[in-house]
Amino acid sequence: MRRAAILVVDDEPGIRELLSQILADEGFSVTTVASGEEALAAVSREVFDLVMLDIKLPGMDGLEVLRQLKVGGKRLPVVMISGHATVEQAAQAVREGAADFLEKPLGLERVLVTVNNVLERAQLAERLQEEEEDVELTGVSPAIVELRRQILLAAPTDSRVLITGPNGSGKEVVARLLHRHSRRAAGPFVALNCAAIPAELIESELFGHTKGAFTGAVEAKRGKFELADGGTLLLDEVGDMSLLTQAKVLRVLQESRFTRLGGATEIRVDVRVIAATNKDLEAEIAAGRFRQDLYFRLNVIPIRVPSLAERREDIPLLVETFMAKLGKRMGVKPKKVTPEAMEALLAYPWPGNVRELRNLVERLLIMVPGDEVTPADLPMKLAETEVFWPGRPLPLKQAREAFEREYIARVLRACDQNMSQAARVLGLERSHLYRKVKALGIKVDGGTGES
Ligand SMILES: Nc1ncnc2c1ncn2[C@@H]1O[C@H](COP(=O)(O)OP(=O)(O)OP(=O)(O)O)[C@@H](O)[C@H]1O
Ligand SMILES: [Mg+2]
Repeated sequence: MRRAAILVVDDEPGIRELLSQILADEGFSVTTVASGEEALAAVSREVFDLVMLDIKLPGMDGLEVLRQLKVGGKRLPVVMISGHATVEQAAQAVREGAADFLEKPLGLERVLVTVNNVLERAQLAERLQEEEEDVELTGVSPAIVELRRQILLAAPTDSRVLITGPNGSGKEVVARLLHRHSRRAAGPFVALNCAAIPAELIESELFGHTKGAFTGAVEAKRGKFELADGGTLLLDEVGDMSLLTQAKVLRVLQESRFTRLGGATEIRVDVRVIAATNKDLEAEIAAGRFRQDLYFRLNVIPIRVPSLAERREDIPLLVETFMAKLGKRMGVKPKKVTPEAMEALLAYPWPGNVRELRNLVERLLIMVPGDEVTPADLPMKLAETEVFWPGRPLPLKQAREAFEREYIARVLRACDQNMSQAARVLGLERSHLYRKVKALGIKVDGGTGES
């Protein structure tokens, strides 16, 4: 992490020197000023992480400076410095938003502990704020407006919701919004990615375990169901649970109680379960990989998140939003996308949906040197927007074949040669796409064909 910058405001030269020394020795970058007026000027010029502010100052006093700093909801933390006579005012300052106060004489230890605590708290608050910001459903397309309407209808009901949609389309965002707009909003939101956890560990993740329940269980651990008590549990990638785990989850959903692994006591919980998947669960049921009874339990309110290709009109707004948000986080100025480059973004099939768009914007912010993104700055696969023309007049049947060959090859490139993903984009069964690729003589290189 970069060195935190601290502004020290005190009219006594001795205190300025003492604090400079203590803080500089600790590796902070320190600026000192002698009055409130100078402090406000410094803050408008430079970025600080913390202000140490004397209460008794000539001219504008510390409390007034604090109020000025807090106008506009600035998150800059302020530590007040008080003399013996001003402790009451210091307490008042804390009520008005100061992070903490220190009493003179200033001891080295106290100063460092206070400064480090306040900085740590401020960083935590910023991280939480960043997470908050991520829970946003950007878009004005009819598909997104409809999605928002469904979220607001479903959220307060406490019913189970099954969220389906392709990779990176925003399923987790939807789950978080359902929680935030429910009567459980003050309770925990806990997510478990069922695909990321080995089958033999998923039960202990869900239900917890007692000490010694299995090799490696050196301590008792609470499971996600317990952690989510009073709140919402997201079973993410729910289509990837083994049939055995499905049976156990089904039992919890039926009875609202379970036991920890190795434990005897039944635990009761009040949890709203939301499930998400990018699989077609009905197809999984037909294939014998997903329990139908569990499906019916989970799928009380179905919500389908549209792919980005279904709501292309949101692309410019999403680009702008990510430019601003990521730019701010990275400390980089947002870049303008030229109309030609935007045309390419609008034409691209976006197999990775909003996540792919977000990653692209992040990459552009880092890689493009100027203020403007032109088509030349885009990855190759994104620049292929011209409509295909076979080069000479052909009978329709041959032209159609030529177009299909070119188009399927482009979509495969966009999907990094992943057959399953390309099949989804094209709206074909995977086996059908295989036959086409073979019949049209399209070369598939590098791809595994797996999803
Ligand atoms: N409508 C949206 N507006 C703004 N950001 C969005 C939107 N939809 C998704 N995102 C962002 O895109 C990224 C992917 O979203 P999310 O993780 O919710 O997708 P997902 O459908 O759960 O993906 P996966 O199938 O890979 O689990 C996140 O960074 C999320 O914040
Ligand atoms: Mg997800």
